[in-house]
Amino acid sequence: MYLKMRHVVVISMCVLQTMAFVVQQSGKEEKCPEQITHFMGHYVLNGEPVVIKCPAFQYLQMDLSRVSPSSFNIAWTKNASEYLYAGRQSRIHPKKESLWFFPALIEDTGLYSCIVRNSSLCTELTLSLTVMKQEEVHVPDIAYEQLAFEHSQFQMFCPDLSDFTINRTDVQLQWYKDGKLLENDIKYMYSSGTTYMHIIDIVKNDGGYYTCKLQFTHENKEYVVSRIIHLRIVGKDKRHYPVIQYPNHKPIAAAIGSKLLIPCKVYIGNGGNNPIVWWLANDSYIDEFFGDGRVIEGTFQERTESDGHYIDVSLIFENVKEEDFNTEFKCIASNDYGSQVLPTHIRRAASPFTWYIPVAPAVLVLLIIAVIVIYKYRKAANKKEYSLTKS
Ligand SMILES: *[C@@H]1O[C@H](CO)[C@@H](O)[C@H](O)[C@H]1NC(C)=O
Ligand SMILES: *[C@@H]1O[C@H](CO)[C@@H](O)[C@H](O)[C@H]1NC(C)=O
Ligand SMILES: *[C@@H]1O[C@H](CO)[C@@H](O)[C@H](O)[C@H]1NC(C)=O
Ligand SMILES: *[C@@H]1O[C@H](CO)[C@@H](O)[C@H](O)[C@H]1NC(C)=O
Repeated sequence: MYLKMRHVVVISMCVLQTMAFVVQQSGKEEKCPEQITHFMGHYVLNGEPVVIKCPAFQYLQMDLSRVSPSSFNIAWTKNASEYLYAGRQSRIHPKKESLWFFPALIEDTGLYSCIVRNSSLCTELTLSLTVMKQEEVHVPDIAYEQLAFEHSQFQMFCPDLSDFTINRTDVQLQWYKDGKLLENDIKYMYSSGTTYMHIIDIVKNDGGYYTCKLQFTHENKEYVVSRIIHLRIVGKDKRHYPVIQYPNHKPIAAAIGSKLLIPCKVYIGNGGNNPIVWWLANDSYIDEFFGDGRVIEGTFQERTESDGHYIDVSLIFENVKEEDFNTEFKCIASNDYGSQVLPTHIRRAASPFTWYIPVAPAVLVLLIIAVIVIYKYRKAANKKEYSLTKS
């Protein structure tokens, strides 16, 4: 039996969900005219089943309001050349907009592209996958960020499990903290059939690394799916503040002339309290600063996820220009209680998008380095991020 949770506040800051899209509109002839680099790195453990999803529809929907998955063909390529085909026996197989690995192995580390097309439209998205050895895993790289408020009860979700729990009635997670199995007791409460755990009366010491594990059977083989969560604790007084989930002080790379979309995703808890989200460029409103409409704000989108309500307002660059690299962009989220400001900068991408094709492994290394740098930067910036100011 669970207690009624009155003030359950969950901020999932999926560090792997670093979302930024760079699109180059005029690619190579044989390529799709529309190419997107999705900077979301997937970091997974060797030997575990993995699902990666093509984010094209999300992008098409957000940007062009044209979406109807069934009217598209989706092809997956590995390493920008090798096509992956569905096949019962194959360890890696595409299934609609998902690519399944049973299981993922170290050698699968690489770049994967999904090419989404019908007779009139073609978009190619590239994602990176990094498979790490269990015993050599760098925990901050793989962990999902979650945030809990002191003296509250916290509902910790085991993230990204839906592909493994769908159609199942036997879901039974095991939870660990710092490698120790957590007893389902007074402090930690979880039950079968759910993918979350309640932590009662959050104190500073509850911060740290948690692991949840799920058994998964595929073709009569047993697998374990594990997720590592980094829980951070913040003072109770900040509970009703809106919290910007991303961008998170991450530098965003873009090539001149490319299309770029920067989402600002804001956690607003139970909703209400008149939340608003907007962007500024050099401290001016976007429509004033960009009178020509080259850069616009996307529509205000509100949606509910398992841990609460979110608002998403994107900053959309039709084509990135030199001057954008010197301009400070800020996402501002505000409600009746307070506000949070998150400055972000766009920096010049080291090279145009299409350059990954002949030199994929080199790009992969750069991507990994970039992600590591982003992590370091983020960690350093975390303090600032939560020193919210009263509006
Ligand atoms: C990518 O392709 C290159 C050249 O074909 C090959 O040397 C490399 O091992 C491949 N990498 C992966 C991860 O498949
Ligand atoms: C291709 O997809 C777009 C977007 O859904 C749609 O508008 C268009 O009609 C489709 N073309 C064909 C030939 O199905
Ligand atoms: C879940 O069930 C639906 C309908 O029965 C099926 O199409 C789908 O493949 C199943 N999903 C998984 C992951 O087994
Ligand atoms: C924004 O401000 C910076 C620093 O004050 C300045 O260098 C830059 O030119 C400004 N951007 C534009 C587009 O005016």
